[in-house]
Amino acid sequence: MEKFIVDGPTRLKGDVTIAGAKNVALKAIVASLLTDEEVILENVPQIRDVHVMLEVVEHLGKHSVFEKSRVVIRKNSSCACTVPLEVGARLRTSSMVLGPLLTRYGKAIIPNPGGCRIGARPIDRHIEGLKKMGASITYDSTDGYFHAQTKKLEGAEITFEKNTHTGTETLLLAGILAQGKTILRNVAEEVEVDDLIRFLQHMGANIKRSGVREMIIEGIPKLHGATYTIMPDRNEEVTFAIAAVASLGDITIHNSQRHYLTAFLNALTKAGGGYEEIDRTTTRYFYKDHLHAVDVVTAPYPGFMTDWQAPWALLMTQAKGESVVHETVFENRFTYVEELKKMGAHIAYVDPEVKNPKTFYNFNWKDRPFGTHQAIRIMGPTNLHNAVVTINDLRAGATLLLATIIGSGKSYLYGIEQIDRGYEHVEKRFTALGAHIVRVKEDAVS
Ligand code: EPU
Repeated sequence: MEKFIVDGPTRLKGDVTIAGAKNVALKAIVASLLTDEEVILENVPQIRDVHVMLEVVEHLGKHSVFEKSRVVIRKNSSCACTVPLEVGARLRTSSMVLGPLLTRYGKAIIPNPGGCRIGARPIDRHIEGLKKMGASITYDSTDGYFHAQTKKLEGAEITFEKNTHTGTETLLLAGILAQGKTILRNVAEEVEVDDLIRFLQHMGANIKRSGVREMIIEGIPKLHGATYTIMPDRNEEVTFAIAAVASLGDITIHNSQRHYLTAFLNALTKAGGGYEEIDRTTTRYFYKDHLHAVDVVTAPYPGFMTDWQAPWALLMTQAKGESVVHETVFENRFTYVEELKKMGAHIAYVDPEVKNPKTFYNFNWKDRPFGTHQAIRIMGPTNLHNAVVTINDLRAGATLLLATIIGSGKSYLYGIEQIDRGYEHVEKRFTALGAHIVRVKEDAVS
């Protein structure tokens, strides 16, 4: 176990190159299970989740070599079709192997998936869809595994009740080698799903975005290997953009995806943050003048992403006035709030009036623990100060790291393995921008 010691405040300045998208790389690694041929992925981020996912596919008969940002995946042995609990339970996307394993081998045994602690995060929408395609799936609460099998996975027409990003991708992966046509409706529109589709098309898959929130997959008997470059990570860009503005700094981002960040850029502009389009893939983000309070409501693409609300809340602690952040996708994504309060932030939980919460919210309303709040009100501006803070999930982790960088004094961050799950060489990159961050073993004397 390690922690960060961060000495602030720092105005972050310099250049950053955005790494490959975690939420594409993980799924592309799963997709390698659809073929026995070699798959080469470029621009893969060196993050903990990717290493765990490579472990998952290694348990399913693959061998991988991960050097710099390139992963080569080859067949190594026959597939045991079981993901061990200690590996799969660490990563939510490990459940996505269901589709490839069922279509290729007719069976899969996977543990109840883990991942960020941002809510119940069930996979009922995935399971329901796979059942419609002919799989029989039972959850054994005595061993914590889903046991799935099928004689043959067949194409089906499936309409998701609510938006689900990985649910869409799970059924997409299931449909590729299934027999016949799969039509998916009310699918996720996230651009990361499109990047996965492009990779699958390179492997020979027959997939079409056939209409608004609709996808058609024509099942084919076999996929071949491919080489593919993963798109840059939009969430990382937003983290560094907010880091620039909140620290009164100036950061130029390379591999920028600003054309997919419209909702964020609109909010940033409204708040008085600066950005300049240098060229197609280079964007400069900078502090211009006093910031204003701006409310956000999270939503699936093309809305303001749930992954951006935690760093946005931090930015709003530096803005004048009261702003509300309303989380509609996950039921428990405010774990950073109590930690920010320790640093001096003025934040209160609020309950926005919502006519029909069961349909309005993206999570299953019944999963929501009693007493949970879906919104916070931030009163700013505040001078944040040092504290000892604990990280509970990935985006909360990045947010608290930013808070300690802009806050005054020496702070201690525990639970940094959560940040390592999704941000490549995080302290090195922030140190290159001027931050003072030291990684130490938790038990070392500092
Ligand atoms: N949900 C269910 N049942 C399901 C599927 C989803 O109740 O079968 C609920 C979820 O619990 C959540 C909501 O529906 O409340 C939306 O979930 P979705 O399936 O869309 O999200 P996800 O696939 O679990 C992915 C990303 C998240 C990102 C969201 C929204 C990956 C690995 N994860 O999660 O990324 O926030 O989509 O775009 O792709 C992150 O990178 O830190 C992260 C959490």
